[in-house]
Order: sequence, then structure tokens, then C-alpha cells
Amino acid sequence: MGRGCGLKMKELKRIASFEVNHDVLEPGMYISRIDGDVVTYDIRFIKPNTPPFMSVEAAHTIEHLFATFVRNSHFGAEVVYFGPMGCMTGFYLLLRNTVSYEDAITLVRDALDFISLAEDHSYSLSYIPGCSKVECGNYLAHDLYGACKLANKMRRVLEHWTIDKLSYRPLILIQGAMMVEIVDLLAKRDDFKKVIINDFTFYVSNGLVISLTGIGMTNATIATTIAINHFHPTYIINQGTAGAHLAEMHVGDFVVAEKSVNININFGNDDAGIPLDNQFKFLDGDVDLVKKLSSGGENIKIFKGILGSGDLFSRNENQIKKLRDMYGEIAEEMECAAVYEVCKHFGVPCAGIRVISNNEITKEAYQPEVASSLQNYLYDLLFS
Ligand code: 5AD
Repeated sequence: MGRGCGLKMKELKRIASFEVNHDVLEPGMYISRIDGDVVTYDIRFIKPNTPPFMSVEAAHTIEHLFATFVRNSHFGAEVVYFGPMGCMTGFYLLLRNTVSYEDAITLVRDALDFISLAEDHSYSLSYIPGCSKVECGNYLAHDLYGACKLANKMRRVLEHWTIDKLSYRPLILIQGAMMVEIVDLLAKRDDFKKVIINDFTFYVSNGLVISLTGIGMTNATIATTIAINHFHPTYIINQGTAGAHLAEMHVGDFVVAEKSVNININFGNDDAGIPLDNQFKFLDGDVDLVKKLSSGGENIKIFKGILGSGDLFSRNENQIKKLRDMYGEIAEEMECAAVYEVCKHFGVPCAGIRVISNNEITKEAYQPEVASSLQNYLYDLLFS
């Protein structure tokens, strides 16, 4: 039996191109993957799942003309492959990494010019290279007019394309439990579209979804599950307000959740003889995201550590001490650990960041308005 034979469908990993969020992919040119010295470019002609798609005939003609052009170009020896995607929304171009990204963009632009401005062909099939029965497996399936039209449209898309646009755009999901925790984010753009799914509200814009989760662990669990299934975010940020569990932490300080733990578990029952050790799940925030979220803010004090989440709002110092002895959390809120647990199950990177809105130890009263400072910080960090 050959290598790889006998694999069952369930055992197969999703391949990289299925990991791309096709819901937010716009026409353009992207780096799909890099294997050794071969760079695969995704040249996306059609926004996924928005018909009309490329016809087989037009795509076939583009394939012949494009491949002929690039193989005859200065970079001919560095062209590994060019061909259409099965979903008929674009093409893959494989080049050696000796072709710079700038040159790859120029090469694609020139090839599209060649196709769309092709002189004097009068849309005659004889213009298409390799278009005879001996040279091609489906030689009658061509559409030069359709190919020109598609190439023309794509030329305009790539007219001002630059290397910084070659990465697939991420889709960021930012959550807040209460309106006061998302309202400043919503004010950053005027094109948010409100989407309600199973009674949970999301605000959708380019590369960004804001989720109003509602308060508490169950709401956070449902909202996160819906968001992952519906929007397939690249990563999730759970943010909002929290209560300090350290005396040196003050209203307005930030807390980044390196770890989060569900502090509902066995609370108030710690004398019941149940061995509590190892019962708590300390869930990890995504390391890169935690680093990124902790990186900004000139005048902001940022604490990193364990964030405790539960369906409780501790007003009493003894209770806070008891919780700290059990879980080691540095602050308390009501959603983050639920989000971390859902994200772990779905394999979605996530991190939690909170702004301190009360401290019962230092007697700083609850001020939810501080939520806006965190929203401004996050938007600047992620989008400027
Ligand atoms: N305890 C619990 N939750 C808090 N929140 C802010 N401060 C606290 C606190 N001290 C957050 C919760 C919830 C809402 C009440 O505000 O995450 O969403």
C-alpha cells in the first residue's frame, strides 16, 4: 500500500487553503502558502460564494494565455505552475522564491494586461495558445471574450496592489458583555452592520466583528460558540471591565489574562472535604496575542496573570481573599474563562484583556465608564 493510502476521511487534517476565511476574502492577490522555495499565490478573481463564478471556458482560456505569458517572461524559468481553483473563483500561481513579491505582482499585472489587451484577435480561438486537439484535453472549451472581460476586471483590482496587501486579511472578533464595553468600538466606524443570530447581537465590518455577549459565563459560552461557527474569526479578544483582587491595582489599570480560570467551581464549598487540587482548569490565552495586548499604552499600567471568571461580583474583602487563596487570580470578571474554554475546543486563538473598574480592597467604587479607555487602546493597537 502506498504512503497515505488507507487514511480515512476523519483522520485527514484540513489543508491550509481551507483554513482561509472565505467569508471575508475579497478579490486580490495573496500569498497562500510557502513550501521550501516555492511560493503559492492566490489570485482571487471572484469574491468567494458570490456568483457568477468564472465559467470553465473563460478560466480555461485565461490558464492558457497566462501560463504562456509568464513562462515566456523574464521569470519563465521560475514559474512552477499556474492553474484554476476548483471553486472557480481564482487561480494559483506557483513561483520560486527567487522572484521578489514586487516582481510577482508586476508579473501578474503584466499577464492580465496581455490577456485583456490582446491585440487583434477578434476573439478567434486560433489566438489562444495550445488550443488544438493534440495540445489540449478539452480544446473546444474556451471563451476568449469571457477571459478578456475577467482579466480586465482583475487588472483594475490589482492596479494599486502592494506587498503589504499580500497577506490574507484576518477577521478579528472583539467581545464585550455590556453595551458600555463596546460602544466606543462601534463609534470608530460608520459601516457596522447589525446581525442578530439566535438572539445574540454582532456588529460586522471589514475584518472586524464586535460581539455583545451579555453578562455571565453561559452567555459568553453561547456567544463565542455562535461567533466561531458563523464568522470563523482568525482570533478572539474578550475585553471589558473587571474588579481588582490586588491592593496595588487601581481603577483604570489593565489586566491581560495569561491564564483564566472558572471561579464558580466549588466556591463556598472549600471545606466540604472534596479534594480541590487539580480540579480547576487554568486555560491559557494565546501567547502571541497576550504579548501583543500587553505591548501598548504609554501611561497605562498593565498587569499580566490569572483572570478569574464566574457568575459573581465580589463586594467583600474576605470573599476576595478566599478566592485568591484558591485560584490565585489577580482580578475578577464574569466571562473570560468561558471564552477561553470554548476557544480551546474549537482551536481558535484568543486572549482576554480587562480594565479595572472597581477595587473592593482599596475601596475604589465601580466605574464602568472606564471601559472606553480599553476600547480606544485596543482599536489603536489593532487597526492603526
Ligand atoms: N466582579 C465581577 N464582574 C465584574 N465586571 C466588572 N467588574 C466586575 C467585578 N468586580 C464585569 C463582568 C460583567 C459585568 C458586571 O462587568 O465581566 O460582565
